[in-house]
Order: sequence, then structure tokens, then C-alpha cells
Amino acid sequence: MIGSAGAARIGITGLGVNVPARVMTNDDMSKIVDTSDEWIRERTGIRERRIASQEEALSDVALPAVRDALAEAGADPSEIDLVICATVTPDMLFPTTSALLADTLAMRQAAAYDLLAGCTGFMYAISQAYGMIAAGLSRKALVVGGDLLSKILDWDDRSTVVLFGDGAGAVIMEPVASGGFLGFELGADGAGGIHLCYPGSGSRHFDDPESMLKMNGREVFKFATRVMVTSAQAVLDECGKTIDDVDVYVPHQANKRIIDYAVGKLGIPPERTVVNVDRFGNTSSGSIPLALADARAEGRLTEGALVLMTGMGAGLTWGSALIEWGGPAASNGRANGA
Ligand code: UT7
Repeated sequence: MIGSAGAARIGITGLGVNVPARVMTNDDMSKIVDTSDEWIRERTGIRERRIASQEEALSDVALPAVRDALAEAGADPSEIDLVICATVTPDMLFPTTSALLADTLAMRQAAAYDLLAGCTGFMYAISQAYGMIAAGLSRKALVVGGDLLSKILDWDDRSTVVLFGDGAGAVIMEPVASGGFLGFELGADGAGGIHLCYPGSGSRHFDDPESMLKMNGREVFKFATRVMVTSAQAVLDECGKTIDDVDVYVPHQANKRIIDYAVGKLGIPPERTVVNVDRFGNTSSGSIPLALADARAEGRLTEGALVLMTGMGAGLTWGSALIEWGGPAASNGRANGA
């Protein structure tokens, strides 16, 4: 699925992120499974990650991020009419985490649902919110991307536990006076789904609750290096832009080697690329918003900056979005026209 924005100007007016307090270093990890700081850093670029406590659920981690996003957008919770939470680790399947967040913040006018697209979830969710606003169904949307993958990992499997971390981010999306999203490209390949799966999580293996997340790392690596490049190029072509136009590249933070490969293949200067996988590991749906927040903290999300985001993950899925950053909210509240 691919499309460019046309006349609709819809952007991000607020961004917030949050991670659990507990830091787990590679040395901590080596006390749990047979691994080493050296192996993890060389193969993935990860130094540490955040791990939620037993009591913490996704909505607890996401809530401060949502509050910050609302504050930056100057939005009252009552104005939010759509909440989409992209996650594979909701508090529970239902009630959805989006409905729980909407209730906690008294978003009484909001439709609320969770969205499953693996680590690509945030990309899918922002494109859905974009479509809802462009079609006139929503005026102000809250999109949350977050995961506590530590809760569904097999803590005896060294090939997966070292890769992932917990975290969440949130954005407010609405019509903007200038800038905004230029286009999206999304895709899925269910045939590859077996390479990254959580068999005990649904109706097929419901009698096997111990069946935790499983991954064929090499296959996912091959898939990742391919789609990180093809998806980014497709959305750029669709929007009539080239890689030289991109000011900030925000790739999914799965593995530094995957990012380096994509950077090299796309031909984007490394200094335009955001990397924080060293501090957070792969936070799944939280990855892109956490990287956006780092780019903002470094002063890179200036008004008008062209930002390219690409995610990939379970499904297998991928998705890219191109946005011109930072236009102020449109005063008339309409999706079309400047
Ligand atoms: O959002 C998408 C999420 N997933 C991903 O992005 C994952 C993509 N895949 C990868 O990032 C990489 O394939 C990994 C980081 C998972 C693995 O790196 P690799 O270079 O493909 O290593 P490998 O699987 O080929 O394993 C090399 C060796 C194996 O030992 P032998 O068979 O060569 O003796 C593994 O058993 O490394 C061993 N190994 C480890 N050793 C120490 C695997 N995990 C570990 C570990 N510590 N944690």
C-alpha cells in the first residue's frame, strides 16, 4: 500500500516518550543467559535496555508519554476523538490499552482500539490516524506506540532476550497549517511470519501458554535489510523526493548492523541518521517515537525538516512515512488546505 498526501496537511503537534526506570546492562544480561557484553555490542550495537517491573503494564509506561504529547500539542484530553495504540504487549487483549488510556485521561469523545503490526505498529498506526483525519472522521488523534516485550520473551533463549527492551511513545496528530505528512508505504509478507512469532498468544495454540516469542534471527535480518531500503525508496519516489532531500532518517532500532546496512544502501549520510538502539535495544512499537524524541532533544527536528521513518517487524511487516516536521496546528481544524 502506498500513497502521497495530496492536499491534506496533517502533522504531529505533540510528542512524548517514556521508558521504565530499571536499566539492564549487557553484563546484567550475561548473569541470566550465556552471553557477553562483547558479543551483544558487536552483533547488535546494544549496550543496555530498560526492563519493566513485574507490576508495570503497557498503559503505565505509556501514560506519561501521552501526557507529555498532549501538553506539547496544547491539547485537552476532551478534544481527542481517536486513540490508536500500536502494540503486541497490551495490558491484556481486552479491554484494549487504548481504551484504558482514554478512560484514565477522560477522553470521553474518543474511539479507541489497539493495532497489531509487530515492530511496524507505530508506522501503521500513524497512517491510520492520517487516513481518519484526512477523511474527516477524526479531528485530533492520539497515537501510541509501545511494547513491554520483556513480558513475552523466553528468558532462557539468549538469541532473543538480549535484543529487546521496553518503552513507549505517543504523538498527537491533527491538521497543520504547514508541513505535515507527505506519504506512506506499508506492506506485509505473511509467508515470512513464521520467522518472528509468538505462538502461544492466540487461538491456534491457546492451550500452550508457555510458548513464548520465537525468532529466526538470520531470516529476519535478511528481510530487514531488504525492506528497510525498498520501503524507504518507495515512499521517497511516491512523494517525488530523493534521499538527498531527507534531513533526518529515523530507522527502526532493531540492530545497529541493520541500520548501517540501510544507511549505506540508501546513501544517506550517517550524521542524518538517528541511532539509540545502544541505550534502549529494540522496543518494538516504541522504537520510532523514542528515536524521534532523541532527534528532537538534539535539536534536529527543526520546522520544515524532512523526516523519513521506516519500521519493520513481525508479520512480517514493514512501513515508511515521510513528514515535513513542525507546522503549527491549523486553526480551522480542517484536514484539507493550508
Ligand atoms: O524488529 C525486528 C526484530 N528482529 C530483528 O531485527 C533481528 C534481526 N536479526 C539479527 O539482528 C541477528 O540475526 C541477530 C543479532 C539475532 C544474530 O546475529 P547473527 O550475526 O545473525 O548471529 P547468528 O544467529 O548467526 O549466531 C552466531 C553465533 C551462534 O553460535 P554458533 O552456532 O556460530 O556457534 C549463536 O548460537 O552466536 C551465537 N549466539 C550468541 N552468542 C552469545 C546467539 N545469540 C547469542 C548471544 N550471546 N546472545
